[in-house]
Amino acid sequence: MSFPTILAIESSCDDTGAAVIQNGELRSYVVAGQEVHAQYGGVVPELASRAHQEHIVPVVDAALKQAGIDKHQLDAVAVTRGPGLMGALLVGSSFAKGLALSLGKPLIGVNHMQAHILAHFIDPPRPLFPFLCLTVSGGHTQLVQVNSAVDFSLLGQTRDDAAGEAFDKIGKLLGLPYPAGPVLDKLAAQGNPQRFHFADPQLPGLDYSFSGLKTAVLYFLEAETRKNPDFITENLHDLCASVQHTLVRYLLSKLRLAARQSGLKQIAIAGGVAANSGLRAALAEMAGQEGWTTFIPAFRYCTDNAGMVAMAAHFRYAAGLFHDQTMTPDPRLTLNAS
Ligand code: KG4
Ligand code: ZN
Repeated sequence: MSFPTILAIESSCDDTGAAVIQNGELRSYVVAGQEVHAQYGGVVPELASRAHQEHIVPVVDAALKQAGIDKHQLDAVAVTRGPGLMGALLVGSSFAKGLALSLGKPLIGVNHMQAHILAHFIDPPRPLFPFLCLTVSGGHTQLVQVNSAVDFSLLGQTRDDAAGEAFDKIGKLLGLPYPAGPVLDKLAAQGNPQRFHFADPQLPGLDYSFSGLKTAVLYFLEAETRKNPDFITENLHDLCASVQHTLVRYLLSKLRLAARQSGLKQIAIAGGVAANSGLRAALAEMAGQEGWTTFIPAFRYCTDNAGMVAMAAHFRYAAGLFHDQTMTPDPRLTLNAS
């Protein structure tokens, strides 16, 4: 079966991305990050929108050039419709709608959370439906049963902070720069994960909660630094290792529960936190115990990127699922909505 040529745009948070997919194969992939947020310790929505406006034309241009595709050869234009930051989503969707209209081509709105999951189909090995996916990013934590490329069942999600947010906020308490997740991961490699004990948050079922852990770490650090002002610097590696160990154990305990309840043995992880080396190692160990086959996308397809949006658009095109010019971004788009 032959599939069309689609340009995909991603602008839901702080990375402007464009990609071209042809016959289900990614032909190009461009991301422009936004350094401007680091000095504020988090993403500033208005600055993100302005940076998207600056980046979108050169990023789309570069994706088309890298793919060797003229815009008139496109069969559809796809864009992230949500969830994400309203101003950021508006930049991508306005641009995509304008381009689709001017080319007379169909428009495909893509759900960012579905796209994170469908990143698994960019390169082999690819999971078979149905499979279980833990999506862990700076904005979301979801346990999803993936029934098909256009049908998803939400089994559990965070009730407060996202997993990546927990890494970032606890890292900030430890004096690490934003985003703290990757830095904490590196420092943890040289620390003792058993040194400090933090209890897992108590929430029954498959939902997560991370805010209590953040508060527990805050109180612990306050008490210890009162006794020794250099406590954090003197114990940084062990603190990072212990926090990471707690977060990973908690993430995986619910994943195992979901796998046992659903009977699914194909287990995928997606999103920026899937890059975490502690999570990858513990997942491999649990896979051995539980008889799972596991899937983790290449790092460049774990963090926000347009390649995953292009992959999702490829499936939607094949299923005949399009939007029209009345499409509007939805910052709170739910998992199964499009
Ligand atoms: O998927 P992503 O790029 O953006 C969102 O959609 O949110 O994820 C970014 C998040 C940040 O919170 C960042 O700290 C976290 O992923 N992250 C990590 C690691 N690499 C990125 N967290 C822990 N360990 C890592 N190695
Ligand atoms: Zn994301």
